[in-house]
Amino acid sequence: MEEANRLKRLPPYLFTIIDNLKKEVAATGMDIIDLAMGNPDLAPAQHIIDELTKSCSVEGNHRYSKADGPIERQLNIAISNWYKDKFNVDLDPKTEVLPLIGSKEGVAHLSTGFLNPDDIALIPSPAYPVHFNGVIMAGGILFNLPLYKENNYLPDLEDIQSDVLRRSKLFLFSYPHNPTGAVANPDFYEKSVEFASDDLLILYSDGVTEAQNEDGEFFGEEALTRELSNIRELNSKQIGEKLIAVVDNFVGKAKVHDDLTIAILKRTP
Ligand SMILES: Cc1ncc(COP(=O)(O)O)c(C=O)c1O
Repeated sequence: MEEANRLKRLPPYLFTIIDNLKKEVAATGMDIIDLAMGNPDLAPAQHIIDELTKSCSVEGNHRYSKADGPIERQLNIAISNWYKDKFNVDLDPKTEVLPLIGSKEGVAHLSTGFLNPDDIALIPSPAYPVHFNGVIMAGGILFNLPLYKENNYLPDLEDIQSDVLRRSKLFLFSYPHNPTGAVANPDFYEKSVEFASDDLLILYSDGVTEAQNEDGEFFGEEALTRELSNIRELNSKQIGEKLIAVVDNFVGKAKVHDDLTIAILKRTP
């Protein structure tokens, strides 16, 4: 059975490529620190596990959810309150909050929901795979905005030709940026909002990770570059320990695990 053309247009999945490379290297006996996927290695807080366990046994919870059910409404209100407390942003829980099963799923469905076959999506490159794969699956046209170190890994919005812009519908970015770790300042967000408003683009900020700690400090390339300046003289265990020290210093709660996988950025709850 032949798969649909949209599936054939997808590039090989990045993490499968990395997994295969890892296997190849491991077969030579080399010691590997796996920083490929930002996979949480810290357990969720105990009160969250307890509440989920308890809620699984509540009979009323064994039903499909409704868009405007009482529990769903409470959740949306709690999310909008969280945004207010944390970022001082006012969100209408009825019209401006939509819980998803994951950020990845939301990004993919946004493209499916809004892109027609000839619509262009402006996507920084490199990017987290679903940012471009979602566009490809939706049949949209992918327009890469190259990111360079000289520009602090921020896209150059002035560089986009007007005929591209005319056919563009979506501008998606994600800071702290995966995979570079770069962060964007408020100025970039303001410029992007202005740019998207002028050209009637949907602006999607995939803010899946948070790079600021309680003291308002940013975690990023600078601390890592400083700590790992002599990386070539270190063995993998020393590199792992240094990385953990940087993260520990930042979030204050990173833990050493046997396999040395670590969460570099604190996830938003
Ligand atoms: C930029 C970005 N978006 C989305 C995701 C996936 O988020 P979720 O697990 O909520 O689907 C990740 C995971 O690392 C990510 O880095």
